[in-house]
Formats: sequence, structure tokens, C-alpha cells
Amino acid sequence: MNENELISDRRGKKPIFVRGLGSYLPERILSNADLEKIVATSDEWITTRTGIRERRIAEENQYTSDLAAEAAKKALADAQCGPEDVDAIIVATVTADMAFPSTAAFVQKKIGARNCPCMDLEAGCSGVPYGLELASALLRQGPYRNILAISADKLTTITDWQDRLTCVLFGDGAAAFLVSCEGVGAKWEVLHIYIANDSDGTDILYLPGGGSHMPATEETVKNRMHFLKMNGKEVFKEAIKGMGLALENVCALGNITPDQIRFFAPHQANKRILSAIAEHMNLPPERFLSIVEWSGNTSSASLGIAMDHAVHHGWLRPGDLVAPVSFGAGLTTGACLLRWIG
Ligand code: ACO
Repeated sequence: MNENELISDRRGKKPIFVRGLGSYLPERILSNADLEKIVATSDEWITTRTGIRERRIAEENQYTSDLAAEAAKKALADAQCGPEDVDAIIVATVTADMAFPSTAAFVQKKIGARNCPCMDLEAGCSGVPYGLELASALLRQGPYRNILAISADKLTTITDWQDRLTCVLFGDGAAAFLVSCEGVGAKWEVLHIYIANDSDGTDILYLPGGGSHMPATEETVKNRMHFLKMNGKEVFKEAIKGMGLALENVCALGNITPDQIRFFAPHQANKRILSAIAEHMNLPPERFLSIVEWSGNTSSASLGIAMDHAVHHGWLRPGDLVAPVSFGAGLTTGACLLRWIG
């Protein structure tokens, strides 16, 4: 690869790094056999249609901020940093602990960080590219040095356990990146990020109840309006189209072709979507990291968990390009080009 070409359009921009990455999955396992006892489904149907065999479920008293804080502590340990080094916290989530204060505020307390700005970000399952973009922009304009960009979701709290089409898909989890403008000891360099939203798709993936559009009433609860609604077939099509386009766009920013990327870390929605993108882009399927079999769809956290898995298994070599790529409610899409430093 031509290094100069890859970095050419970053000239004049402050370089951005990831000093530490951490992820967290709750201990409790919900298998397909367990789901057979809840709804009319079968292990065979779920594995064939989605590739998912089991997912992790948070405890009742374990909130999104708890999952986020566990991942954040691991990212800090990975970076050999402490909570005193954190200058801002961003939490991307669709399952905030409360409408307010922000989930990031609860994370601040749980990791022992002090007096730093805290904010939540809502980008559906695209929390990783959106969070990295926001953190990079803040770092470039100063005065920050280290920002925690966390993606965390307890999707099982908005899952309708009477809807067999959706309840078999989701699990809980979190991933955290310590993003920094300091390169010393960094594990990754953030080369390029592309993010977008197509609002024509707001009606294929949404949660109608509980906001200003439909405040909670007895009626909305009775009608199950506080659970996620999804048009599975449309989401399937849009996911392939959106992630394919995001990858093409981020490759154009980096002046590279997709075959120069060692691993793609796609949103882990389901195995068939991952295989379809590989086919759509004419790339070997084994380059698409897949953890969905044992994690289920952990929403915004899934890309980071997949990347962390690759690091822990020693699959990366210094200089490798890795591309997290996502789609989510909005419909958001995003892709990043990261270089593994080691
Ligand atoms: N178990 C058994 N049967 C089921 C189940 C189930 N869990 N769910 C649906 N069925 C039945 C349906 O009722 C239907 O039966 P019928 O033919 O008698 O009417 C049959 O299976 C086929 O249903 P379809 O809706 O056509 O199933 P499809 O092949 O589209 O697969 C799926 C459904 C897996 C949801 C697919 O559409 C999909 O993967 N969509 C993408 C969804 C996704 O990944 N969303 C991610 C969440 S959002 C995000 O992460 C951004």
C-alpha cells in the first residue's frame, strides 16, 4: 500500500489515536433452546436465518451505564490510564439508563472520573463511527487529550418478548475506546471516518412510545409501544446497501480499495447480512469478523466487541487496516479506517 496516498488528505489535521479498547458482555447466557421456551421458535429457524446460537443478557439491576463502565475500565487498563486521565465521556446508546441525566454522567461516577463533560449520542447501531467522529472533532479543536467514546446497549429492555421475529436477535453489551491526540503508546491510528443518515428509513426501525411523540400512557403500555419495532426484510436490504456504500466512501477518503483492508468489523446484526455484504463487495467472507453466533446483536457495541475479540485472539499484525462499519436506526451508516499499531 502507498502510505503517502493513504494519509494524503489528512495533511494539516491533527492525528487521532485509540490508546485503549475494552469490551464487556454480561455473564448470563440465553440460548436458542431457552428461547424455545419463551416463544414459538426453534434453534434450527434461528441459526439458519441469523447464525445466532446464544446471546448475553444483563441482570435486572445491571443498567446500560454498568455495562458501559465495565468496558470503559477495560479500555483505561488497556491504555494504562486512570480515570483522572479522562477529559470527556461520550456514550452512544438507544437504551439510556434514564431520559436524563445522560448515561455518560452515570458512567463518570462509576469509573471515578471527575469534572469532565459527559454526553449521550443517539445513532442507533452506528455508535462506534459516530462516537469516534465526535471524539476526533473535539480532540482536534482542543483542549481535550483523552476522550472515552463508549457504545453500550441493554437492548433486552426494549425487546418485545412476545414478538418472535425480533426477540431472537438481541443481546446486551458494551465497548469503549479511549480516543486521544497523543500517539505515545497508542494501539490504533484513526485514519478516516465516514458517517451519514438516510431519514427515508425512519419507519423501518423505531421505538414509538415514551418520547414527546407518544408519551407513556396506560394505553401505550398495553399496546406494547415501548418495544422496538422492525421491518426485518427492509432492514436486511438497507443494511447491505448502507454498509456497502459506507465502506466504499471511507475507502475513497483513504484512497484505497477494500481489498487492502485486513479485517472488516461490521455491525453484528446477523450472519446472513455479513455474508451478503462480503458477496456484494466481492471480498472473502473470512475478512468479515463475526461474533454474532455467541453475542447476538448487541446494537452499537457490536463492532467494538468484534474488534476487541480480534485483538485478544492475536489476529492483527502491525500496519493492518481494520474497518468497523455499521448501519442502524435513523437510518444511520458509518465506516472507519483504523490502522493497528500493535
Ligand atoms: N421462529 C420461527 N419462525 C419465525 C420466527 C422465529 N423466531 N420469526 C418469524 N418466523 C416465521 C414468520 O412468521 C414467517 O412465517 P410464515 O411464512 O408462516 O408467515 C416465516 O418465519 C418467515 O418470516 P419472514 O419475516 O419472511 O422471515 P425472514 O426470512 O425475513 O427472516 C429476519 C426474518 C431474520 C428478521 C430477517 O428479515 C432479517 O435478518 N432481517 C434483518 C433484521 C436485523 O438484522 N435487524 C437488526 C436489528 S436492527 C439493527 O441492528 C440496526
